[in-house]
Amino acid sequence: MTHHSTPTFFSFPADALAGASERSAVVAGLMAGSPWVSPKYLYGPLGSRLFEAITELPEYYPTRTERALLEACRDSMASAAGPEPTLIDLGAGNCEKARSLFQSLQPGQYVAVDMSVDFLRHSMSHLQRDFPHLEMLGIGIDFSAGLRLPDAVRRDNRLFFYPGSSIGNFTPEEARVFLAGIRAHCAGGQGGLLIGVDLVKDESILQAAYDDTLGVTAAFNLNLLNNLNALIGSDFIVGDWRHRALFNTALSRIEMHLEARRDVTATWPGGARRFARGERIHTENSYKYALQDFKALLAQAGFSRVDAWTDADDWFALCHAIA
Ligand code: AVJ
Repeated sequence: MTHHSTPTFFSFPADALAGASERSAVVAGLMAGSPWVSPKYLYGPLGSRLFEAITELPEYYPTRTERALLEACRDSMASAAGPEPTLIDLGAGNCEKARSLFQSLQPGQYVAVDMSVDFLRHSMSHLQRDFPHLEMLGIGIDFSAGLRLPDAVRRDNRLFFYPGSSIGNFTPEEARVFLAGIRAHCAGGQGGLLIGVDLVKDESILQAAYDDTLGVTAAFNLNLLNNLNALIGSDFIVGDWRHRALFNTALSRIEMHLEARRDVTATWPGGARRFARGERIHTENSYKYALQDFKALLAQAGFSRVDAWTDADDWFALCHAIA
């Protein structure tokens, strides 16, 4: 048996040109009639830690509900996945959810993908220490615009793992395209996808989950301004803004916004924008699905069969879709 002391790492750091086009895309969002910033800018060394703290909050039910569902499904997952599956963890973060599957799944290779590269390196070094014989690959990329995998990712028995309901950051139309892309990566029609999805429920429960009383979600959202300042050289002052979370019933999504507490002018090299008091920057959508709608989406993406596990309250679902 091979001993793997460190995970192999692939990362595609943005070159100077990509950096410039990324910055201009962010600025274009800030200058838009309805200003917006991609939720990926919530993350970073501090943002990823704040998100981890969110998952411990009493109001934030998704993580703990999904954890229980993972326990409930892991034996059927193991038999469905076959021997030594290639486990591909999308948005791996601290890798704890995948770790909880190792014992039953016995993966032949573990591939963790996350755009917070340093955070991922840290998580994987701990994981590799605990599972020295498991081949691990770390991939530091932003897969939101489509997933590309290096050749070192084994093709046999791929099980894509996309937990946490991050699929909710996409619109349903974008989600369908993204899921079809994943299915295309399931070589030869074997393989599949294990995905977590948050379900529609009473608005007050959603509200509380995205505007907790400790203010951790507020800090997570407001910290996006620090990330923007680092990225585009802007001078946003966190204290000028407040966190807003609202449920958009028509679109079945939680929206997070940053709202100006007073008239504010933000400046960055090459530009500036004035925000009137009360004006908002839209920072995240988190879509909530009816289970049958999400199953239909998986079918539209080309998956052939879907099994679902839900908690007693039907707050969250874990779906296993066969390519
Ligand atoms: C990581 C996208 C699943 O939408 O619930 C948590 C992010 N935003 N609290 C979610 C988030 C505010 C989270 N996802």
